[in-house]
Amino acid sequence: MTTTTKGEEEEESSEQVVTPWDVSAGADGKIDYAKLVREFGCSEIDENLIERIERCTKTKAHPFLRRGLFFAHRELDEIVSAYEKGEKFYLYTGRGPSSESLHLGHLVPFQFTKWLQDAFKVPLVIQLTDDEKFLWKDLQLEDCRRLARENAKDIAACGFNPETTFIFADASYMCSSFYVNMVKIAKCVTFNQAKGIFGFTGDSNIGQIGFPPVQAAPSFPDCFPHMFGMNKKSLKCLIPCAIDQDPYFRMTRDVSHRIGGYKPALVESRFFPALKGESGKMSASDPTSAIYVTDTAKEIKNKINKHAFSGGGATIEEQRENGANLEVDVPWKWLNFFLEDDEKLKEIGEKYGSGEMLTGEIKQILVDVLTPMVEEHQKRRALVTDEVLDVYFNPTKTPKVFLDLFREYEEKEFGKWEKKKGGGDSENDDLCAALEEKMKLEGATENEEGCAIGAPKSEDWLRIRKERMQRDAPTEGSKSALKKAAKIKAAAEKKAAEKAAKAAARGEAAT
Ligand code: TYM
Repeated sequence: MTTTTKGEEEEESSEQVVTPWDVSAGADGKIDYAKLVREFGCSEIDENLIERIERCTKTKAHPFLRRGLFFAHRELDEIVSAYEKGEKFYLYTGRGPSSESLHLGHLVPFQFTKWLQDAFKVPLVIQLTDDEKFLWKDLQLEDCRRLARENAKDIAACGFNPETTFIFADASYMCSSFYVNMVKIAKCVTFNQAKGIFGFTGDSNIGQIGFPPVQAAPSFPDCFPHMFGMNKKSLKCLIPCAIDQDPYFRMTRDVSHRIGGYKPALVESRFFPALKGESGKMSASDPTSAIYVTDTAKEIKNKINKHAFSGGGATIEEQRENGANLEVDVPWKWLNFFLEDDEKLKEIGEKYGSGEMLTGEIKQILVDVLTPMVEEHQKRRALVTDEVLDVYFNPTKTPKVFLDLFREYEEKEFGKWEKKKGGGDSENDDLCAALEEKMKLEGATENEEGCAIGAPKSEDWLRIRKERMQRDAPTEGSKSALKKAAKIKAAAEKKAAEKAAKAAARGEAAT
């Protein structure tokens, strides 16, 4: 098994190769996407599905969707059908942190995920596979962990809602619920199957062989009990990514029913091609093969003018006579990703394809589109301080929105939300209730954890909260805990009564 990422392989091969670690075009220099759909067994996204998405989200489809750049799926139609009936889902995507910054190709799934998050109003988890990169690359684990945080800044700069987005790095987050899923998944896949799916050989280190369940596990909501509770079926999952990640999730979908979960759905993109052409290498070790989100305006201009593969005529005369071959032209392909204006794009395609426009002109248009986009990204990234990042990484926050989501599920599943009465509930519940009562009296709408006061509590959620309170609060005997609860409540009631009396007195004075 090679240890390269997409496009970093050195050997040429006439067969196209698309794996999570290795992408190279076939002999004709192109990726045959129809063949990939056939071989992987996914489906193409059709107009009807796009229309349904627009209808149920009341949002115009993202250009990546309308232009067929996100072109394949697995059960995206099921997610849409469920959503049409009022069911929510969560999004899961990720990044393997192997370089200091992202290149423009990496922005594609994140920009699209941001659009999905806003259009469907659903929560999102983002996995940073620092462990994967450590296992596959010549990097120290500590470097990968640092890169995970650096890359997270670029990801956050895409504008994800910190209230509904949880970013985690494997080496830091791995918790019991996560491990339980991993080990269950691992038991369902034989080494022979893993060899078939991922191409492992006798030279693969055993960390690599054991890694796929790590990327599979976040497809199940109970990996994130602080967000979705402990029920594996509390929410369905939709994964946006490029098609290279499909093998991980083919495996995940095959084992889902055996571990009691839903199959994750996928929405998959084509590759944003390398600067030097689709068959070329977008490589971290060759800075001229890609544009990075850290590049300056000058670097962007130079790279495009010097290295962007052109499908235009070799001379001005040839270009005027025959026009450009848009099938292989990189500036044209890149504009398809990042030029938002459909009309303008169409006009450029017609003019450049017919020879009315020259290569230098389309390259200049691309420079004019990418420079402000990258500069804007850099400005937003500068705002992502360590404190801001900590909000995304916080594994104890349970924002109100997750509770609302969970409530919808509970209402559907159990038809009721009242806190269960009796049943041997401990003093912790009384303490919780007293604290919430206190805050309610003080006019707060959320408790210290950012949870809605009086938010419905499922059994799972109650238990998690109890565990958290036990962990965070100094341990107290049952009597003193009850006493403390009563004291807090009494003090709060006294304060509220005083406030009310003062207000009444003021009212009387005014009349
Ligand atoms: P990584 O870091 O290789 O890539 C991150 C995301 O970017 C997509 N991608 C591209 N999309 C379009 N054009 C390109 N040229 C291009 N290059 C990369 C990838 O498909 C991916 O979506 N193992 C994963 C990290 C991961 C993950 C996930 C990805 C963990 N969990 C869930 C997607 C979904 C990796 O190394 O991605």
